This record gives sequence, structure tokens and C-alpha cells, in this order.
Amino acid sequence: MPIIDWTRIPLFQGRQKVESDSAILRVEDLYLRFGALEAVKDVSFEVKGNEILSIIGPNGAGKTCVLNCINGFYRPQRGRIYFKDKEITKLPSHRIAPLGISRTFQNLALYTGLTALDNLMAGRHPHPAMSKEGVISGAFYFGRAHRIEIENREVIEYIIDLLEMEEIRGKVVHSLSYGQRKKVELGRALALEPELLLLDEVMAGMNLDEKDDMARYVIDVHELWGIPVVLVEHDMGVVMDLSDRVIVMDWGTKIAEDVPEVVKKDPRVISAYLGTAEAAERRIT
Ligand SMILES: Nc1ncnc2c1ncn2[C@@H]1O[C@H](COP(=O)(O)OP(=O)(O)OP(=O)(O)O)[C@@H](O)[C@H]1O
Ligand SMILES: [Mg+2]
Repeated sequence: MPIIDWTRIPLFQGRQKVESDSAILRVEDLYLRFGALEAVKDVSFEVKGNEILSIIGPNGAGKTCVLNCINGFYRPQRGRIYFKDKEITKLPSHRIAPLGISRTFQNLALYTGLTALDNLMAGRHPHPAMSKEGVISGAFYFGRAHRIEIENREVIEYIIDLLEMEEIRGKVVHSLSYGQRKKVELGRALALEPELLLLDEVMAGMNLDEKDDMARYVIDVHELWGIPVVLVEHDMGVVMDLSDRVIVMDWGTKIAEDVPEVVKKDPRVISAYLGTAEAAERRIT
């Protein structure tokens, strides 16, 4: 049981789990190329406010590129992206994060010389409460700065509790195992109090126990906090267990989109991604 009274956490104030299945994110005809290489070819999809949507596909299919376009790291040559009906296609990443889109990185993006706790605090920086206006006015009005500091601490403590990070909170990141670092990476993304969470292979390189834990955290974040999740993942067992819907990419193109039960039987998906039907069956069940 969480030791923190979560009803006091800013994250929950005025926020309910999104029960509606209206789209929180819309991606329309996204096209991204590097020179002659077409990484994403006219991909469209929606993320509903109440779902875990997985994006799967072979190496180089364009999954990370899609996430990079959504959070402003890459600028697509064509197409549009809307977050809560606001167009964000051309916004840089430092303007997108405060809107409420947070992500983890396939190759981790942590300050390895700092503690797990410091990394979580750093993840809090793009939050609107930490904006220039907030910090400047905070400098003049001690009460406000103090309140922001308390709020930050409460959010971070709640995340530490939720992700069972008590033992590693004071440890320097470079001394942590890969699985523990992935957990810090998730915590860093959550520190932003996101309204949409993009997870890029958050379970890669983990042992079975660590994967189980991570799957539980993702479900908790989704169900307790009501945060829609886009999950890029290679582990088909995890994908089939966690996802409400699955998008399949191959060579930059979306080749399928449906509920897990349908996707795993789609012949195009089997040949593009899973190999033979028998191999698919072995990997999925
Ligand atoms: N910055 C870049 N410059 C040039 N090519 C890139 C760049 N980023 C990605 N690519 C290329 O775009 C294609 C799609 O890459 P992407 O990283 O999106 O694949 P992915 O589906 O995430 O694969 P993986 O499962 O291996 O992570 C690949 O051919 C990749 O080499
Ligand atoms: Mg990738």
C-alpha cells in the first residue's frame, strides 16, 4: 500500500481516470525521411484517452521515429500531430513536454553521475509549475517557492513509493543494474505528471522478474493515474497481455491495427514480424 496519501498529490487534484475513448493524440499521414531512407511513410493513428496502445514491428520499422516525431525530437517532412486537439507538429520537444507528453528512451536518458532521486527531480523541470514564470515569481514570493518545493517532493515521494525505489533512491545511477535504471527512467518520465506516456522498449534487457514488475508499474500508472500509454515493445507476451490495441509497423508503414487477438492472427503481421505461423504461436503464447 502506498505510504503517501495520494489524494493530496497535485497529480490527482481535479483529475479523474479518463473513461472516454475519445482521442488524446492524433497522428495524421506522418512522413519522415533521412535522405533516401523513408523511416515513416504516411502513418496515421489515434491514441484514445483510456488505452494502452502498443506499437510493434521489426528492428528499423520506424517505431522510435514515430515517438521522436510525437515528442518533437524529429520534425516530419509531412503530416500533422494533434495533442488534445492542439497541433504540436512543429513544436520543439521543450515546448511539448510541458503540455503533458512524457517519454522514456530506448537508450536511457539519465544523469548517470547523479542519484536516482536527483534524476527524478530533474524530470520534474519541464513541469509547468517549474516554468520560468514560476521560478521567478517564486524567488520574490517565498511562500510560492516553498509550496512548489513541497509539491515537487510529494510527487517524487509518491513515484518512489509506487515504483518501489526506496532502496535505490540515494544510489548513484551508474551503480544501478540495467533493470533498476529502466525503473529510474520510468520515474523520471512520471515526474512530469504526464497526460500521455510514451514508453520505448522500457522492458528490454530485463530479466523475467524485472519485466513482471515493470508490467505491473505500467498497469498501475495506467489504471491508478488514468494515463494513456503508447508502448513500443518487442516482447510479444507483454504486448498481448497489456495492450488494448496494437499497431504493427514494417519498413516505415503501418501494416495492421487492431486488438491483440486479431493482430496476432493477421497473416501480414505473421510474415512481416513473427516469422512462420508456428513461430508466432510459440512467441505469443
Ligand atoms: N537520426 C537518424 N538518422 C538517419 N537514420 C535514422 C535516424 N533515426 C532513425 N533512422 C533510421 O530510420 C529507420 C527507423 O528507425 P527506428 O529507430 O524508428 O526503428 P525502430 O522501429 O525503433 O527499430 P528498433 O526496434 O531497432 O528500435 C532505421 O532504418 C534507422 O536506421
Ligand atoms: Mg526503436
